[in-house]
Amino acid sequence: MEDEVLFQVKKSELESGLRGIPVGYCVTSTVHPEKGLFYADIPISELASWEPERVICLLQTGKDPTAEELSQFKSELKKRAPLSKASIVDIEKLPTTGDPMKLLTAAILLVGMREGKNDWKEDALNLIAKIPEITARVINHHASWGKTPPFDPNLGYMENFAAMLNIPRPREKELAEVLRLFNILHFDHGGGNLSTFVGKAVASGLEDMYGSIGASILALAGPRHGGANQECLYFLKEAIEKLGEAASAADVEKFVRDKLANKEVIFGFGHAVLRVEDPRATVQYNFASKHFPKHPLVKMALLMRSEGSKVLKENPKISDPYPNVDAISGSLLSAAGFPYPDYYTLLFALSRTVGIAIQIVYERLEARGGKGTPIIRPKYIYKSRG
Ligand code: MLT
Repeated sequence: MEDEVLFQVKKSELESGLRGIPVGYCVTSTVHPEKGLFYADIPISELASWEPERVICLLQTGKDPTAEELSQFKSELKKRAPLSKASIVDIEKLPTTGDPMKLLTAAILLVGMREGKNDWKEDALNLIAKIPEITARVINHHASWGKTPPFDPNLGYMENFAAMLNIPRPREKELAEVLRLFNILHFDHGGGNLSTFVGKAVASGLEDMYGSIGASILALAGPRHGGANQECLYFLKEAIEKLGEAASAADVEKFVRDKLANKEVIFGFGHAVLRVEDPRATVQYNFASKHFPKHPLVKMALLMRSEGSKVLKENPKISDPYPNVDAISGSLLSAAGFPYPDYYTLLFALSRTVGIAIQIVYERLEARGGKGTPIIRPKYIYKSRG
């Protein structure tokens, strides 16, 4: 069969962020513009109730594990999870000022220096197993929340993470459940989201897994990507401050119109690929409406969902006027007893490390009949400044 033309790049598509330009295969997930995210052909709405370990197996193999396979995988993760004493000391010596995403990056690199095997599969599995403890230790250290409780082999993947967080307030009963849901929803989002693309690009130069994931975490940190969940929470808090907790739909509609009139961003809406409400947002809206219907941030997020879309749809130039995954994630975390937006992107990183590590292993060891992809080297067209 002759080689099929997949895409023709027009000059107007240069400097467009590679939008829609196919560059490789993704074997873990896909994002359909109208149907949203699928992990190995299963829609995310179906996976939201699964255990994280079962979803990780699905991302790794493309198949839902049998009970025996799942039990073995859980034991494997537990065996690999504990950090070395030296890694723990390294993390606790990190400065507690500055952006916690940079601390998380430093911690991943330090653990890699101490515990890296320079083996794609081993390092991927070890890092997937260790990232909950690494993230919990970084958050507790940065927030000065005191000593991190030890890894408990009797707890599951995200139960351990929830138990290790030294949150300085009484725990809401839904917290562990919300952290589990957040973790599953953010594992993977096709092959081209910035953090995944960067992680694979760095790995294509044969930097090791820890260095490649470190680079991807920095890519995730920006407000246009993983940092958007914090911006969305600040946006909803501003709406509550201006309109009050009893705001009506009409009040919120006017708030959105005023923002647009001032050429300000309406956070939590739009996506490069999606042309419907992000199904990951839908799952969160449903959970929040059921468990926290009276929480002021949840009430505002639900009003913003309807009024924001209504106003944005009026502009034909807006390709996706619908809520994305970030629209309510911070409100849901706050309502569930984790009102710490500085750490929301770290929760995203904790989760996305899984999908990126698995995709790196594919590109290094399975792509192109096992040869792996070559170093990423796109073409740029010279444009004289003269
Ligand atoms: C993600 O989950 O990575 C975000 O939705 C951004 C993207 O898909 O590009």
